[in-house]
Formats: sequence, C-alpha cells, structure tokens
Amino acid sequence: MKFIIASVLLAASSAFAVPHAKRDSYISITDLIGRDSITDGSIGFTLTDPNYPDDTPTDCYTFWVNGDGPDGSARCDNAEYYMKFPGWDDNFNLFTLEVQRVSGSIPENGSVVLDSSAAGSKWVCVDNPESGVNINCVYNATLLISV
Ligand SMILES: *[C@@H]1O[C@H](CO)[C@@H](O)[C@H](O)[C@H]1NC(C)=O
Ligand SMILES: *[C@@H]1O[C@H](CO)[C@@H](O)[C@H](O)[C@H]1NC(C)=O
Repeated sequence: MKFIIASVLLAASSAFAVPHAKRDSYISITDLIGRDSITDGSIGFTLTDPNYPDDTPTDCYTFWVNGDGPDGSARCDNAEYYMKFPGWDDNFNLFTLEVQRVSGSIPENGSVVLDSSAAGSKWVCVDNPESGVNINCVYNATLLISV
C-alpha cells in the first residue's frame, strides 16, 4: 500500500514539473505607433517573444477606414498573434492592447492599458501634427506585456 501511494505522488509531482524547460513571462513590444487621419486609422508595432524565438520578431499592423476601428481578429505578419483592442472607443489616448498567441506549446495572453494622460506615461500623443492628421502617438520605450 505504501508503495502505491508513493507511486501516485511521484506521478502527480512529475506532471507538474513536466511542462517547459524555459518560459518567459512577457512579450516585448517595440515601435508602437497609433495614428488617426481624416481618412483612416492605424496601429502598428513589432512583437518579440522570447518563448518563440524562431518566428518572432514579427510586425503587427492594423489599418481601418471610415472610423470602423481595428479589426477584432487582426493578426501579426507571422499569423501567430492576435492583436486585439477590447472596448475600443476611437480614443488613441486611452485604450487596451491585448496580444494572444494563436498556437504553440506555450499559451500566452496578456494586455496593457495605454494612457497618454497617466503621470510619466511613455505613450505620447500629439494632436494635429500635420494637415489631415488628427492625432499621432508613439510609445517612447520598449513595452513589456505580461503573458
Ligand atoms: C485573455 O485575457 C483577457 C484579459 O486580459 C480575457 O478577457 C480574455 O478572455 C483572454 N482570452 C483568452 C483566449 O484566454
Ligand atoms: C522620448 O524619451 C526621451 C528620453 O526620455 C525624450 O528625450 C524624448 O523627448 C521622448 N520623445 C517623445 C516623443 O516624447
């Protein structure tokens, strides 16, 4: 009986130990920009994922016209990440960016709020930077999203 219990415990603990030798807890976003003009809007960035060095960095870009807002199922160029904007309200100064890995052995999902009015915010927006452009925003640093 003792032997059986020991075997069961061993099986249980190795099931927890198995998953992955390496798992970083963040995705890195660089060159994040947002732009709204009188004809179109766009958000773009480069995504680097230390858990998936073989298919990142990848460029991520979504573009829309007529004030439609970003495509809710837009993916990055490598097709392995959704870029989502839950609750999008046509406000480049304040919105949520969510990224999700589409497939792979390490599931990932995380989000961050970009708020240009927060104290010390690295999300910097300029209104009417040029004719025909309503607002242009850049993230002035590397942004880490916990996943
Ligand atoms: C990803 O996380 C967000 C919260 O940040 C949650 O609302 C969403 O349902 C999650 N999506 C998946 C596919 O787990
Ligand atoms: C970005 O940050 C650097 C250093 O903190 C600063 O000098 C520069 O003006 C910032 N750029 C913008 C667009 O805010």
